[in-house]
This record gives sequence, structure tokens and C-alpha cells, in this order.
Amino acid sequence: MDGAPVSAEQPLVALRGIVKEFSGVRANDGVDFELRAGEVHALLGENGAGKTTLMNVLAGLARPDAGTVEIRGDDTAVRSPRAAIDRGIGMVHQHFRLVDRFTVAENVTLGWHAPKALLRRRPLEREIARLSELYRMPVQAGRPVWQLSVGEQQRVEILKNLYRGAQVLILDEPTAVLTPQESLALVDSLRRMAAEGRGIVFISHKLDEVMAVADRITVLRRGRNVATVATSDTTQGELARMMIGHDLPQAAAPDDRQAGAGVLRLDAVEADDDRGLPALRGVDLEVRAGEIVGLAGVAGNGQLALAEVVVGLRPLSGGRVLFEDRDVSGWSIARRIGAGIGYCPEDRLRHGVAPTLSIAENLIAKSYRRRPVSGRLLLDRRGARRAAAELAERFDIRGADLDAPVASLSGGNVQKVLLAREISADPRLLIAAQSTRGLDVHAAEATRRLLLEQRNAGRAVLLISEDLDELVRMSDRIAVIYEGRIMGTFPAHEADEEEIGLLMAGRRP
Ligand SMILES: Nc1ncnc2c1ncn2[C@@H]1O[C@H](COP(=O)(O)OP(=O)(O)OP(=O)(O)O)[C@@H](O)[C@H]1O
Ligand SMILES: [Mg+2]
Repeated sequence: MDGAPVSAEQPLVALRGIVKEFSGVRANDGVDFELRAGEVHALLGENGAGKTTLMNVLAGLARPDAGTVEIRGDDTAVRSPRAAIDRGIGMVHQHFRLVDRFTVAENVTLGWHAPKALLRRRPLEREIARLSELYRMPVQAGRPVWQLSVGEQQRVEILKNLYRGAQVLILDEPTAVLTPQESLALVDSLRRMAAEGRGIVFISHKLDEVMAVADRITVLRRGRNVATVATSDTTQGELARMMIGHDLPQAAAPDDRQAGAGVLRLDAVEADDDRGLPALRGVDLEVRAGEIVGLAGVAGNGQLALAEVVVGLRPLSGGRVLFEDRDVSGWSIARRIGAGIGYCPEDRLRHGVAPTLSIAENLIAKSYRRRPVSGRLLLDRRGARRAAAELAERFDIRGADLDAPVASLSGGNVQKVLLAREISADPRLLIAAQSTRGLDVHAAEATRRLLLEQRNAGRAVLLISEDLDELVRMSDRIAVIYEGRIMGTFPAHEADEEEIGLLMAGRRP
């Protein structure tokens, strides 16, 4: 972007009335957003609020259904990421887009036709070194990307955008992958870039960070603007309330319901994630018969690991998992299933069902050891079919040719197959993760009804969801998880949006 001066009143970027729909979901529903030169502008909102979508529109990755993108007063549509960078807009995504076997310098120039003088290696490396020093973002230009830490890879992504002349830099949850020290260093670098007149968009769920780095904050909720405020005029409590809204629904469970005996107990549970970093740090949690415990939290704070240690998919590095007073920590997955633990994972098609097997085969996958499905020697095909047909009927799985692969079903019906299979195995504990995500309103309601029926039938249900309204409506108790720790547990009818919002952002109110 060459330097047409920006007048004091004119923002660097103005998004007006942005609408973006994905198959019926309004990810952005008329959003306005302004970015000034010299500011760090934080974008806040719950999972699914529409932050990434809005910034993808600005960065030329998503075409809006309505609304305008104005860059320095020019509202020509941004039709590609290349067009965006040509106009000075650079975005660093949650998942980096670097080529592993190329060096830092090669990644910086990859697919970029820079002025000739800069294409030679030495001057290129000098320029990278200059930028890296200027903004205090240490990288080694000659090293291949696969040798770099995550933090260093992120610095390469940022430098790549600066090298290409980004005047606007968008960072989508950059600190989610960083250590606290790296996060502090990044904040310092971003402040330096802003001080030079760049505009920085900073997406984060962590209120401490947002307060520390941002000049202004825009809060989105369900694809709409809630407010834009100056950081100096707000508090973390107010931000938490704005993110979650002032209208938490009524808790569904009557206050005097009596939960039964403890079914699941986690006792100081510790576990690592796939990279060997701590995912659970001393989790204590109980789920009793006849209650739904809702696990609230921003995605990626240990929810998945928690489900996996209960089911036996992830080893413990400390503590114990007790199921009906027996220590099952060392048990195999099969033994836990046999004992009565059911699991509906969040990634339904990858980990939940066998997509290429038929609907019928998926439905009965858990009951095959019992009559009438299993004959004495061979699988009793007729019995299996009858059982599958009964389940399809009972769980209202529609449009289903039972012999068709399960992958041919709609998302809502895949969810029903999964729930039908788990529920038909008659578990005493059911873990349901993101069970309504991606479902339309009716399928989501049907799923919720099934889970509530399980609770009413005396089963223990652990419900993991990013939808706080849903958690409050369905749960008897709510536990909030943040960075692998349970920040608090309380009855759902006492849920307070500010308290939950702060706990989810890692603050004790
Ligand atoms: N490519 C897509 N196809 C279908 N739906 C999508 C797509 N991208 C986003 N959505 C939906 O649009 C809504 C907004 O998503 P978006 O990723 O913008 O939220 P976000 O605020 O960035 O959330 P998070 O904090 O979880 O990153 C969600 O309901 C999401 O499921
Ligand atoms: Mg996002």
C-alpha cells in the first residue's frame, strides 16, 4: 500500500453492515467495525460469535453476502487474500500457513513478487533481520520452519505480513498457542507496530490480555455488535457481561430435584495433551445419578482431555478416575464401556461413527454382544436388522435407508445415530460433547430432549458445550474449566453471566 495520508477522521478500515451466512447460519448479521491507524483493537465474543468470519471478510478470504469493506475510504470489494495484502491487510490465522521444509526467508517471499532488489538472499535476510529487531521478534532467517517453536513460527507469520507491507495486521487468537512469557513479548511487539501508525486487530478470549494490549474493544454476540468501548472506560466484569448477554435463560431443572449417588468422580486428575503439555491440572469433579453437569469453557481449555480420560482414550499423569466408587484409571476402553460409560464425541464423523459402514451397522455397534442381535456363532443378521430398525424408529432417524452409509445422513441424523447407539447400550454415565453444534434448530432440540430424558431416567450426564445458554438451560450444575482447571462449580439456577464470563476468561470474580 503506498502512503496516501489518512486523515484524522478517516479510519484505516471501516466494515459496514457485514452479513455472512453459511448454510442458514448467520455468522455475521450486519456487523460494523472500524479500525483506526495507531490502535490495537480487540475483538471479543464467545465461541461462534462471528469474530473469525468478520476478519476473513476483511482479509479477502470470505465474500460477504451484504455490506461494504472500506479501506482508507476505498470501498472496492476485496476479492482475494492477495487483493487484501495489496491493499495493506494481513492476517495471521489460528493455524499457520507456513511450508515446513522451507526456511524462514523462503516462507516470507513464497508466492510473493517483491521488488527485484529484495529477492536476492542477502538483502532479503537483512530486511527480515531489520524488521525482527525493530519489533523485537527474534527469528533466524536461514532455518527451516520445521525446526522452529510454535512461538517462532508465529513471529515468521507476522514478519511475512509486515514484509509484504501490511498496514493492518489481524491476529486471530495469537496467544492461544503461546506461553505466558511469549504472550507478553507479543503484546509488546504489537504495541510497537501500533505506535508506528499501523492498525492491529487482536482476537482473544483472555480478558487480562485484552485489557493490557487494546486501546478499544469491540464485543460481538451471535453475529451482531454489542458495543465498542475504549479500554480505559470499561472493566473485565462489564466485558464478561457484554459477551454473554444480559439474558441467560432460566435453568430448566427445578431447584429441589434430588440427584442420586455419585457415578463419576475425578480426583486431582492430571493429563497431558498430544504435544505433551499439561491439559488437565488437578481436576476435581463429580457427576451424580440423575443430574446433568454442564462443563462450560472457551473451546480448547481441556474439555476434550477431560472426556478422554474418563472414557480411557487418554492416560492420566496424576490423580484418579472413579466410576461408581471403583478406580477405573487403569482400565481399558472396552472395560469402561462394558461397565456403563457412554460417550458421544464432538467430532461425530471422525471419532463418533464409522462413516463408511451402514446406518444399521452403526446403530447396533454397541449391542452386538447381546441377544437378539448376536446369535450363537454368527451375527444374527435378521435380529440385527430388526434391532436397528427399532432404534431408527425410536430415535426418529429420518430419510434413512438403513443400508446406506451413515456419512450420507444429515448432521442432525448422524447425531441421532450416535446418541441412539450410546443410549441403547444403557450407560449409567453419558458424556455428550458439543452435541448440538452444527445442527438446525429442530435437530438441536431433539438432541437436547434425548439428553434430558437420560437425566430424568436417573443417568449421570456430563454435558460439554460452547453454548452457554444451552448449558444453563439443561444443566443441574455448571462447572467452568479454564486452562485445565475447574474454576468453580455451582447450581445452574444460580448462574450469573458476569461470574461465568470471568471464570471462563481465567479470572476469579
Ligand atoms: N466455513 C463455514 N461453514 C459453515 N459454518 C461456518 C463456517 N465458518 C463459520 N461458521 C459458523 O459461523 C459462526 C461464526 O463462526 P466464527 O468462526 O466466525 O466464530 P468465532 O467468533 O471466530 O468463534 P471462536 O471463538 O470459536 O473462534 C459459527 O456458528 C460457525 O459454526
Ligand atoms: Mg474464531
